[in-house]
Amino acid sequence: MNDRPTGRPDRRTFAIISHPDAGKTTLTEKLLMTGGAIHLAGEVKARGATRRARSDWMKIEQQRGISVTSSVMTFEYDGLTFNLLDTPGHEDFSEDTYRTLTAVDSAVMVIDAAKGIEAQTRKLFEVCRLRSVPIITFVNKVDREGREPFALLDEIADQLALDVCPMIWPVGMGGTFEGLYDLAGHRLLPAAGGSVQVAGLDDPRLDELVSADALAKLREEAELAGAGYADFDLAAYRHGDLTPVYFGSALRDFGVPELIDALRDLAPSPRPQPAAPAPVDPDDPAVAGFIFKVQANMNPQHRDRVAFMRLCSGRFRRGMKLNQSGTGKAIAVHSPILFFAQNREVADEAWPGDIIGIPNHGTLRVGDTLTEVAGAASFTGLPNFAPEILRRVQLADPTKTKQLRKALDDLSEEGVIQVFHPAIGSQMIVGVVGQLQLEVLISRLQHEYKVDAKLDASPWDTARWLSADNEGDIKDFAANHRNAMASDRDGQPVFMAKDAWELNYVMQRHPTLRFSATKERA
Ligand code: G4P
Repeated sequence: MNDRPTGRPDRRTFAIISHPDAGKTTLTEKLLMTGGAIHLAGEVKARGATRRARSDWMKIEQQRGISVTSSVMTFEYDGLTFNLLDTPGHEDFSEDTYRTLTAVDSAVMVIDAAKGIEAQTRKLFEVCRLRSVPIITFVNKVDREGREPFALLDEIADQLALDVCPMIWPVGMGGTFEGLYDLAGHRLLPAAGGSVQVAGLDDPRLDELVSADALAKLREEAELAGAGYADFDLAAYRHGDLTPVYFGSALRDFGVPELIDALRDLAPSPRPQPAAPAPVDPDDPAVAGFIFKVQANMNPQHRDRVAFMRLCSGRFRRGMKLNQSGTGKAIAVHSPILFFAQNREVADEAWPGDIIGIPNHGTLRVGDTLTEVAGAASFTGLPNFAPEILRRVQLADPTKTKQLRKALDDLSEEGVIQVFHPAIGSQMIVGVVGQLQLEVLISRLQHEYKVDAKLDASPWDTARWLSADNEGDIKDFAANHRNAMASDRDGQPVFMAKDAWELNYVMQRHPTLRFSATKERA
């Protein structure tokens, strides 16, 4: 169903969104196995198991190696290249997660059949909705007792305000699970394996293959489902208004091939990406891409840093010079990294939809646009979010100020934290969106930078970026609110408020100023 573009190889660049324990790791493992990257399976698994304990997860994150190389996983299936981008698994919303979702063309939402939509699923879903990312739903663990398919489908439809269209239906669940039924293709996929083509639900062959009770239930449910839910509509799916739903079990490998087929047939090819002055089309001949993630200290010995670029147009070749938006600097990309599963491989060429790792020494930052033709485009929609927690950083050893600055600079570049410099006093303020980011900060300061720091409460609760048509208005405001003013790492003015009430009050009294909760890099 995809219009294959001419002249360039096609890609499916996607992420899996889910609540912890729904089965993302297991599904990832199965997708990679299907794609022939079997050696990876054990390692993905180990990572999932370790992640469940928060302290272990921190350790794993510090070891960098595992989480970084698997933050982009590439596999081939049926001659098509799939790029699977990992979304961080922790429970707090983080900017990193949001930005990863800006780099995909579609997402798979994994739901536990016994639990339905959970908190983290909903948060990640909302992020997808912001960018109209199309979503395929995989209802996992049908080999265990779960909720009724109708209850699950209705919950998705109601809670996420989405049309749902069941594509694969479970024949029983848990102890009574007998297989899956492909509603559109009329195939029975028995639990014992294989696939049997039938003429329809009335085909008498089904009576031989499915127990009488289960078959009666399947026939009734399929009829109700056909009448009660939307027909599949490719445009509605691609627009993020409808989700096709696949029941299955990642662990037992039920429904996983069908899910990959759906990604192949339904999920979009690389889409035009929002940019100024105009969206960048994947068929534009000149190379353009944006940095959505920067990872420092992948190897603590070398202090290296990799910027992850989503390629949006053109054919990238090794050694190319790309121009960085903002600075106008030209950067020669001699050793780009493509991520073939666990092996980092040096890339010779890459195409729209691919992710390229660019080793650098801190020149590249999240939100940067890189273009073959200088100034050709500037990608939009990669915001920083106003922090919801602000803390003062207190050094145990004052002689480590330089190290602390360097560390905070690195970590803010990675999107782990934001750093603000108050107009009064020298103590830096760090801002985060979720509590876990603070824990990661302290732990990484200790282990990677050998800096002992404490985070003290600050008088502020939230921050807003200030802008105005008239620069003088900002100056006047700043002069009158010096003790609540700070600048961010780009030198932009920031107002810090004690609470939402104060923020509202100040906003109302200064109608010529804009108080932004998000900031995009120029
Ligand atoms: P996550 O990455 O989303 O956090 O989930 P993960 O894949 O680690 O799966 C969470 C638990 O759910 C694991 O069990 C996993 O084996 C199980 N699981 C995943 N898919 C299925 C499925 O289709 N059916 C069933 N029955 N279980 C499934 P665990 O006992 O917590 O871990 P482990 O000891 O098996 O590693």
